[in-house]
Amino acid sequence: MVFLNIVAKILLTLVISLLHGTSLGIENNEQEKYKDLELKNVLFIVLSQHDDFHIKEAERFKTAFNEQIQSLEKIQQPRLLFTHRDFADVRGTWTVFPLIQHIVEISKKQPLSWVFICEEDTRVNLTGLVALLGNFDPSQNHFLGRELRDQETTIIHHFAFANNPSQFAYPDFRAGLVLSRALIHHLHERLEIAEQKTDFSIDPKHEFALFVWNEDSGPRLTHLREFCSSLESVEPWCVTTQSGRFPECGSPVDKDDLVVAVKTCGKFHESRVPIVKKTWGKEAEIIEYFSEVEDASIPTIDLGIPNSERGHCGKTMAIIKRVSKHPLLTGIPWLLIADDDTIINLDQLRSLLSCYNHKQPVALGERYGYGLLRGGGYDYITGGGGMVFSQRARDLLADRCKCYSDDAPDDMTLGMCLKSIGIPATHSRFFHQARPEDYSPAFLANQVPVSFHKHWNTDPLRIYADLIALGKAHAEHSQQGTHMDDNVREEL
Ligand SMILES: *[C@@H]1O[C@H](CO)[C@@H](O)[C@H](O)[C@H]1NC(C)=O
Repeated sequence: MVFLNIVAKILLTLVISLLHGTSLGIENNEQEKYKDLELKNVLFIVLSQHDDFHIKEAERFKTAFNEQIQSLEKIQQPRLLFTHRDFADVRGTWTVFPLIQHIVEISKKQPLSWVFICEEDTRVNLTGLVALLGNFDPSQNHFLGRELRDQETTIIHHFAFANNPSQFAYPDFRAGLVLSRALIHHLHERLEIAEQKTDFSIDPKHEFALFVWNEDSGPRLTHLREFCSSLESVEPWCVTTQSGRFPECGSPVDKDDLVVAVKTCGKFHESRVPIVKKTWGKEAEIIEYFSEVEDASIPTIDLGIPNSERGHCGKTMAIIKRVSKHPLLTGIPWLLIADDDTIINLDQLRSLLSCYNHKQPVALGERYGYGLLRGGGYDYITGGGGMVFSQRARDLLADRCKCYSDDAPDDMTLGMCLKSIGIPATHSRFFHQARPEDYSPAFLANQVPVSFHKHWNTDPLRIYADLIALGKAHAEHSQQGTHMDDNVREEL
């Protein structure tokens, strides 16, 4: 008995020490290996976009990056890739999924420990990043970033975790997200055989995190406090930050240079249209309301297209053609097409448009995607948050785009046309297809929103007042050269 006990104890000690790796020194060696992480083993990918303004932003990223690696020997330099340039022919890189296969290809030529993915206006402290990643083992499945959590169950996340939406954390791409070598290979294997749950790409941050998590078979996001929002960017511990400034590239576009088209229908003339008129409609110099019912009190324009309970392709195409051909409108640089329940800050939009060139084909708003994960598919500007077209894009669409039926979805049909003409759907994080309640508070707090959508179960007047107040507060603070801090937001 005693003997057996002793043997058992010895065995137990051996098992424990093996588990801890102490007797063989495994853990120490491994730890040394990843503590000594070198920058050249991190691959950097910027989710950049094919538009002059965004390309310039990507250039700024590159400058800031190169300033930091100047002192390194060539052999130590990390690889930096931009999706608009290095993956120009890969569709849907903004959803991250299509990148995985390419990262695996790259890793066959160059040993990789980590992949760091971010947006154009992210700034990363490379020394800080290497020190931080040294705490994690790249041969394990690690998924690292700044966490966002939903406070309410939301349509943009397909009502996931309806009972407790805040239980699930997903990464703020703007603060950067990090995938370990092991996770990349694991995801690659799964993507080869994965069934898709939906054909729509709406919010890649959430959709990608859900796929990684895989009903709890994969890792959850590890929150890194060092990955900061623009509001925290002055904190000494921040390894990633962003500029909190709203893009402005000169004086705002003139009121006269923007045609606003509001799509409505008979049943909303008395409920929604008065709200538009009371709020953002007032800010427009040139605004037209399009309906299937003539109503002199608004007044509306009847385009001769019957209303439909489904899509509004016929109506939207008729608007684009009208503005393109109308002698008084054809020379106007910008066109905004909005719904009668869109809520938008037009002053903020005019500031934003100063960064874009109306002589180039620009389609701007919140980008969604359809069918992207099957390799084909297309991007589109989702209609509810407002679709903005430059004069050039408008004219090309007017000439070359057709609805396959009047009640086809307008935004998706336009997306297919954009793809066939070769115009990129340019994403701007300031446009929102849903209500403020539908987004994570930490995500919204990190930007100056331009638009929201829907009057359902919310107060459009309050949403509009908040949009205006946030825009004003940001303008004042940027004049003073300071960031708008949490206190200002609390006051709003
Ligand atoms: C990066 O962070 C370190 C501290 O971790 C700091 O000493 C250094 O100045 C930072 N570099 C840049 C370029 O901000």
